[in-house]
Amino acid sequence: MDNLSEMRSGADPGPDTILDGSRFVRACLRRPVDRTPVWFLRQAGRYMQEYRDVRKHHTLVEICKQPELAAEVTITAAEKLGVDAAIIFADLLLPLEPMGLDFEFQAGEGPVVHHPVRTAADVRALRVDRAEELSYVARAIQKVAAHFKDRLGIIGFCGAPYTLASYMIEGGGSRNYIETKRMMYHDPVSWRLLLDKIVTVLEDYCRLQVLAGADVIQIFDSWVGSLSLSDYRDYAFDASKRLVRAVQAMGVPVIYFGVETAGLLGEMASTGADVLGLDWRQPLDEGWRAVGYNHAVQGNLDPITLFAPLEILEQRVKEILRSANGRVGHIFNLGHGIVPNTPVENVQAVARMVREFRLA
Ligand code: CP3
Repeated sequence: MDNLSEMRSGADPGPDTILDGSRFVRACLRRPVDRTPVWFLRQAGRYMQEYRDVRKHHTLVEICKQPELAAEVTITAAEKLGVDAAIIFADLLLPLEPMGLDFEFQAGEGPVVHHPVRTAADVRALRVDRAEELSYVARAIQKVAAHFKDRLGIIGFCGAPYTLASYMIEGGGSRNYIETKRMMYHDPVSWRLLLDKIVTVLEDYCRLQVLAGADVIQIFDSWVGSLSLSDYRDYAFDASKRLVRAVQAMGVPVIYFGVETAGLLGEMASTGADVLGLDWRQPLDEGWRAVGYNHAVQGNLDPITLFAPLEILEQRVKEILRSANGRVGHIFNLGHGIVPNTPVENVQAVARMVREFRLA
C-alpha cells in the first residue's frame, strides 16, 4: 500500500471500498471496517506450547536471528488465534547490539546489559552506523508477508527512545529509573545525544522493516509511565515525535504504545501517532477522549482477565467493544502483553468474541 501517506494527509485516495487494504490497517487509519480488528500484545510467547517447543532447542535471541524460526513462530501464533494482525517475533533490545552494547536474557531475570551506559563518554562511544546488522528481522518479515499476503496486517516494531534509553542506562528492568533520571537531570547534553543516536538507529531499523513488508510500525514506550507530564514534555516527547514522523514519512501508520499513561495520553497523541495504545486502568472511552477522536486507539483488556471464567471475560470484552461504540479506529487488544501460563483457549475465545460481536 503506497498511498497511505496520501490517505492520512487527506488527499483524495480514490474510491474506497470496505475491503480495500486489511481490516487492521484500515482501522489504524480510521477508515470504516466490516468488524473490529483484533490481535494480542505478545501473542507469540511462553504461554503457547508451540513456542515453548521451539524454545527447548533455541534461545530467544537465536529465534530472533534465524528468519525461518522467527517467521514460523510469528505465523503459528497468528493462525492459531485467528487474529487480524501478526507482530513480527523480535525483541525490543535487539538494536542495542549494533550500537555496541552486549546483553543477554537471564532465566527469570529478564534482560541484562553487560556494560550499561552511565557517562558522557559511554554515550559518545555508541555506534549509529550499523542498523543493517538487524536485517535478519527484515528477512523474517519478508517470509511472514509472503505467507499472509494481504490476509493479515503485518506489524513491525521498535522501542521508543525513552524506553530503550532506560534499558541502556539501567542495564535491565528497573523499579525507580534512578540512573536514567539522574542522567536526564544532571547531564541533559548527553541525554539528548543518547536519544538522538537511538532515533538515528531506529529510523534505519524501521525502514528495513517497512521495505520488507511491515504494514504498520508499533513503537513500544513500555516504561514511559514512569515519567511525570513535565518530564515527558522536557525529556522524551521530542525524540518520540521525531521517530513517529520519520516512520510515517516511510508511508505506514504508527501505533504508539505505553502503560500507566493516563496522565500522558494527550501529550503522547501530540507526537502525531496514528494509533495510541490504551491500558486497562481507565475505561476505553475515557482514554479515547483524552487522546482525541482524530486518533485511532488500541486496547484495552487487562491481560490477567484472561485467567477469569469465560462469562466474566465475555462481559469485559463486550464492555470494551460497547464503549468503542462502533466509532471508526478501534483495534481490540490487551492493555499489556500476555503473561506465561495464560490459558491459550481463553485467548482464542476472546478473538472469537471480537470477531462475532455486533453492536445491538
Ligand atoms: O508476539 C510477540 O509480541 C512477541 C514478540 C516480542 C518479544 N518481545 C519477544 C519476547 C515483542 C513485541 C517484544 C517486545 C518487548 N521486549 C518489550 C515491549 C513490550 C512490552 O511488554 O511492553 C519489552 C519491554 C521487551 C524486553 C523484554 N524481552 C523483557 C522485559 C523480557 C523478559 C520478560 C519476561 O517475562 O521474562 C523479554 C523476553 C521476551 N521477549 C520473551 C518473548 C516471547 C519471553 C522470554 C523467552 O522466551 O525467553
